[in-house]
Amino acid sequence: MSIHIEATQGQIADKILLPGDPLRAKFIAENFLENAQCFNKIRGMLGYTGTYKGEKVSVMGTGMGMPSISIYAHELIVDYGVKKLIRVGTAGSIDPDVHVRELVLAQAAATNSNIIRNDFPEYDFPQIADFDLLDKAYHIAKDLGLTTHVGSVLSSDVFYSNMPERNMKLGTLGVKAIEMEAAALYYLAAQYHVQALGIMTISDSVVNPEEDTTAQERQTTFTDMMTVGLETLIR
Ligand code: HPA
Repeated sequence: MSIHIEATQGQIADKILLPGDPLRAKFIAENFLENAQCFNKIRGMLGYTGTYKGEKVSVMGTGMGMPSISIYAHELIVDYGVKKLIRVGTAGSIDPDVHVRELVLAQAAATNSNIIRNDFPEYDFPQIADFDLLDKAYHIAKDLGLTTHVGSVLSSDVFYSNMPERNMKLGTLGVKAIEMEAAALYYLAAQYHVQALGIMTISDSVVNPEEDTTAQERQTTFTDMMTVGLETLIR
């Protein structure tokens, strides 16, 4: 048991899918995994282990934002020996060519958080995805016929930004979307020499605010992203 996870040793697979929402973790366990067993209920941050195509795989919520994902990812890696972590979440597009329902594979993550800056104030230490996971996810998504963008994202500490024009400026520099977790996950992966990737479905667009999705469409694209994440974990 760790401070925030009540699983016993061996209850968590060395490969894990990490949605922000714990109810999404439950959805994935119930719809994609066989023989899923719940290993965590502390703070309602549901986690499950089961099998996907015969491979032992786990899924657990992380909550929203970098402090929250950092706590769970740290304990999963350090206390439970998890080696492959794939975040599956939503993001807001800041690139006019990246539309709702499309996928973004976060090759790198810029951040306005101090999590990395606190450790390396003099450097812009880049937060990058594991290339092997990125390469696999890209080909799996393409083979599924999904419109998939590869590039950087902004991991922001702020959802309701007072400076949206600054975020949009990053869009002109090739940053595709804003989300709130990838940079911290990548930083932990770098520290502990494990593999991490962020896969995001675009749920809204800062630059094309008229673009919208129905709940049903969000569910379908979310389901596609789960498939990409799970297939990437087991290949
Ligand atoms: N900002 C930050 N995180 C997000 C957004 C956004 O616009 N959309 C989905 N997650």
